[in-house]
Amino acid sequence: MRRYFVWTVGCQMNKAESQRIAGYLDSAGYQGVNSLSDADLVVLNTCVVRQSAEDKVLGTLGLLKGMKDKHSGLQILVTGCLVNSDSEELERRFPHVDLLFKPGAYSDLIAWCERPGASVEQESLSYPLAALRASAERNNTSRPASPCAFVPIIQGCDNFCSYCIVPYRRGREVSRPLEEIVCEVNELARRGTREVILLGQNVDSYGHDLPGHPDLADLLNKLGSIDGINRIRFLTNHPKDISPKLIDAVASLDKVCEHLELPVQAGDNDILRAMRRGYSVEQYRELVRIIRRRISQISLSTDIIVGFPGETEEQFEHSLALVTEMRFDVVHAAAYSPRPGTVASREYHNDVPSEVKKKRLNKIEERQAVIAGQINAQLQGREVEVLVEGRKKGKWFGRSRGNKLVFFEDAGDWLGRLARVHIGRTSPWSLVGEVTK
Ligand code: SAH
Ligand code: SF4
Ligand code: F3S
Repeated sequence: MRRYFVWTVGCQMNKAESQRIAGYLDSAGYQGVNSLSDADLVVLNTCVVRQSAEDKVLGTLGLLKGMKDKHSGLQILVTGCLVNSDSEELERRFPHVDLLFKPGAYSDLIAWCERPGASVEQESLSYPLAALRASAERNNTSRPASPCAFVPIIQGCDNFCSYCIVPYRRGREVSRPLEEIVCEVNELARRGTREVILLGQNVDSYGHDLPGHPDLADLLNKLGSIDGINRIRFLTNHPKDISPKLIDAVASLDKVCEHLELPVQAGDNDILRAMRRGYSVEQYRELVRIIRRRISQISLSTDIIVGFPGETEEQFEHSLALVTEMRFDVVHAAAYSPRPGTVASREYHNDVPSEVKKKRLNKIEERQAVIAGQINAQLQGREVEVLVEGRKKGKWFGRSRGNKLVFFEDAGDWLGRLARVHIGRTSPWSLVGEVTK
């Protein structure tokens, strides 16, 4: 039996797609292994959001080339955001790659598994490839159900923020039909999933391209009535698009967690304009005020880019001040990286030296560590509900409704169950406690 390994970098969308790829390969008679060096078939699911991510991908491709030179039976498949429309150029650069397929183009993967001479033993198929192809077309999969499952609801992005390569690699927005998502979540619930995390580059755009224009709030309402599902999250929201109706849905639907990912990207209006984000700092601040008033327990995460072209010390200080003022639960900060094809890489000069970017990154991270430490310390002595996802270093771990990572020790089997955990110790990154029931 041929052994496969799916190597993944990038965002949750990539993780979701890797789970799906693994599901197809299982059904096509391959066996999953835990390390790249044990595999006969490696699928690289790639990310190019920053040069550092792309470098990691290129490094692994180089490593695999060396492995293939020694072990000619090794097959290498590449998907994710490295795969652009110029597949000829990629084929020239990476002749050792057996198949390039665009993100989500599962039918290409399945056709490759079906090709004449494919070394899958027919008797090892758990069901015929034709059925597999049909299920791929319905976006279904036979993947094993985990307590938390990612469910993509909208692909692509129409926003074209000036720094971002995603719209060029993932194409325009395409929503999945509402009934199809409901069907998938029903199936996941039946197979043991307790939490679904709905994914899209901009989930607030969900449904604008579907007949009847259902929106995310409508979808949440439908999913909220599925038995067996205890929790629903979604990401990412866009500050210019999030609607009062959605905020109401989060406030009123029990299963929807008090947790929003609301990337601000910068705390300076000139930078926000150059980024083409479509809102001002004042609008963002007002939005957060409305959200906090409506949902008092809300846990807020954000993304910030430092060192955007032309960012002065003073403009950076505006971002730092916003982090201090907003008291986010989590801040993902990144140094600006010019990406081919984007407006910013064409029109602006990448003029903030990398040492300065690093310094700014550190300042944001240090400030946020203090804030997250204070926010988490308030949970000491309180009880939180944790959906247990697995074990790490002898402890059970999972997340609270507010997306805090929580650890506890207990002899029982907690996998996939909801635990009430009394919080003893806290840090900026996680909580530790004891299960009460
Ligand atoms: N759709 C989401 C996420 C997009 S990519 C959103 O709108 O926020 C994830 C994060 O990577 C972004 O939020 C942004 O902070 C960061 N990012 C994107 N392009 C980047 C670039 N060229 N340089 C540095 N960080 C970037
Ligand atoms: Fe990129 Fe902006 Fe789209 Fe997010 S909203 S994926 S940052 S273009
Ligand atoms: Fe990376 Fe593509 Fe996601 S560039 S962040 S894998 S959408």
